[in-house]
Amino acid sequence: MSTTPASIIGVATPRIDGPLKTTGAAEYAADFHFENMAHAVPVIASIPSGRIRSLDTAAAEKMPGVLLVLHHGNVGPLYRTAPGDENATNSEVRSAFEDEVVRHWGQYVAVVIAESLEQATAAAAAVRVEYEPQPANLRVGLDDYSGKRKTGSERGDFDGAFADAPVKVDATYITPIETHNPIELHASVAVWDGDHVTLYETSQGVVNHRVVMAQVLGLPVENVRVITRFLGSGFGGKLFPWPHTAMAAVAARKLNRPVKLSVNRRMMFSNVGYRPRTEQRIRLGATKEGKLLALRQDYLNVTSQLDDFDENCGEATPYLYSVANLEVTSGLVRRNLGAPMYMRGPGAVPGLFGLEAAMNELADELKIDPLQLRILNDAAKDEDKNLPFSSRHFRECFEVGGKKFGWERRTAGIGSMRREGKILGWGLAGASWVALTLPCTATVEFHANGRVSVRSGTQDIGTGTYTIFAQVIHDKTGVPLDRIDVILGDSALPDGPMSGGSMVTGSVLNAISAGATNATKRLLGLAAATEGSPFHGSEVSSLGFTSGCVHKKGQAAASGTPFVEILNRARLKSLRAEGKTQPTWEDPKAKGVSLHSYGAQFVEVEWEPDIARLRVSRVVTVIDAGRIINPKAAANQIAGAVVMGVGMGLLEETVYDQRTGQPINGSMADYLMATCADTPNIDVTFLDYPDPAMGEYGARGVGEIGLAGVAPAITAAVYHATGIRVRELPVRIEHLLQSKIVEA
Ligand code: MOS
Repeated sequence: MSTTPASIIGVATPRIDGPLKTTGAAEYAADFHFENMAHAVPVIASIPSGRIRSLDTAAAEKMPGVLLVLHHGNVGPLYRTAPGDENATNSEVRSAFEDEVVRHWGQYVAVVIAESLEQATAAAAAVRVEYEPQPANLRVGLDDYSGKRKTGSERGDFDGAFADAPVKVDATYITPIETHNPIELHASVAVWDGDHVTLYETSQGVVNHRVVMAQVLGLPVENVRVITRFLGSGFGGKLFPWPHTAMAAVAARKLNRPVKLSVNRRMMFSNVGYRPRTEQRIRLGATKEGKLLALRQDYLNVTSQLDDFDENCGEATPYLYSVANLEVTSGLVRRNLGAPMYMRGPGAVPGLFGLEAAMNELADELKIDPLQLRILNDAAKDEDKNLPFSSRHFRECFEVGGKKFGWERRTAGIGSMRREGKILGWGLAGASWVALTLPCTATVEFHANGRVSVRSGTQDIGTGTYTIFAQVIHDKTGVPLDRIDVILGDSALPDGPMSGGSMVTGSVLNAISAGATNATKRLLGLAAATEGSPFHGSEVSSLGFTSGCVHKKGQAAASGTPFVEILNRARLKSLRAEGKTQPTWEDPKAKGVSLHSYGAQFVEVEWEPDIARLRVSRVVTVIDAGRIINPKAAANQIAGAVVMGVGMGLLEETVYDQRTGQPINGSMADYLMATCADTPNIDVTFLDYPDPAMGEYGARGVGEIGLAGVAPAITAAVYHATGIRVRELPVRIEHLLQSKIVEA
């Protein structure tokens, strides 16, 4: 196993890239500047539906510094991606400038390229577009849907079991459109060299981005290189390419100059995805003792005119609890909006808002403690796939969290708990998220200057991926962190996974470990084979490698020889080897098991009825996500997700003007999200059980699970404090003013 005396795996490790970020040395996509670079600014549609009747660029083209105005009429060929490659892109890229149809407010209709950003901005405002408007569908609610519903999971006989169930819950839960708001705006800088293009991108997946852009631009994949060294987050909004990438690339090709296009915050609200609105009817049937008999979830989500985007609210429903009779159905509702996109915990997060809120209502109906209700219905196996769980400690999450939170002190009555002139509300909910290993290749290299480098074509979305790579190299070689170089964020590197689905950590560990092990084997072979090496002629099997030194097994590492000396004796500048991760679907240890992470959220709210102020004051989160590689970065992910959960529960919602389709609150000033002042006291605990199906280290990843369950725990706490049952997020003051609890 570990070749260092005390392993760094599981040790709180500060970010190795922290100094680069805090000193401003880290280069984000929009930080790349090139000689002779031009600036692109898009022109966006001002109607939600219709056709472009005329597009007059004459005035704009005459303005100072203007180099080019691109639009449907002159963009030239942009290709679609093949139907089998659907997952690699989204429809917005396929349809960029393809026709004269306007399908949503804010759709790109032209792009102006000029010498400076100011000139391009001024000229973009001078492009005259006339439209033939058509009626738009911007209806907020989805309950007008009468189309077909797709059946997802199904088992037993829901209708029969629900009809006979002595206790029932039947309610509809709604989550609004939320817009990803990473601090770093989306941007693309395109630089051509002959028929090769390098794209400096804000991409959560440089390898996929390269494949898609090669298809869209009609280039061989080897002619495209995508670089994303650092990301100021993405939350899913940067998973797949968007049309601005193609616009920058085409403009740069036509002008034979580097072109930068940065999507501003207002355009970001209509052109790079959002979490779609969901409406889900949940029905639960149970015995008088609280055992689930029947569970049904019928959900709808909004999508654009072109996408078949399914916000899979049924993600966690089929396996979370033991229930013999179950059905999940879904439907897509089209509106004149841009394309939706995955957002932190897609599907599961809104889905668990419905399911866990309904479980809390069932507990109230039964007068059973909601924590006991979860334990009573815990699943011993995945009843959907009929497979054992790889590693599930859902019940322990509730037990540990209950103790930490002090749950046994809860009194059930509405408004029955007080503290310092405030009413307290306590609520809880369960959380879950999928786990998988994706294919990954990493190369590890010993250098004659005493450094070790590791490379892979994945990227660090800001979660600590750089540091995890260095930790594994340190664990395997004993070389100190400050002598390890981690090179990521470049599609020219060996293929690595997307920063999506909380899957990078679980996917890269085995490849890095194998790469380090293979490189070490080569080094020991070299030590034995090289003349003048202290180990010349030794059996390789008699050699060990500790703290960066080759030594005889059984002898102290201090007596060994630094790897630099071995490389120098052999006259090698460096020595490298590759390692690969076997994806879950090919790994015999993972094939026959159900792989998920679990969690429990405990929330306290303070309610001051006289001034109608509600605050989330305290959150206890217990997470079962396999082995935790870096508890510092991991706790940061969970705490950040809890803050986002406060936003989901109380603040976030994108609102569209019903006449124009323009986001009314499409700015950082108007779109409410949780900030420091809204942040409760957060207590994060990891159970830290390695998952044997995830390989050597047993880590499942923590990027998303911390958001799951926060909102339903908040609405349960709100009900406990105020007696108001809010089933439509976010919870508003208007809801709470209905409370009969008027005095603290
Ligand atoms: Mo995440 S929504 O897979 O970036």
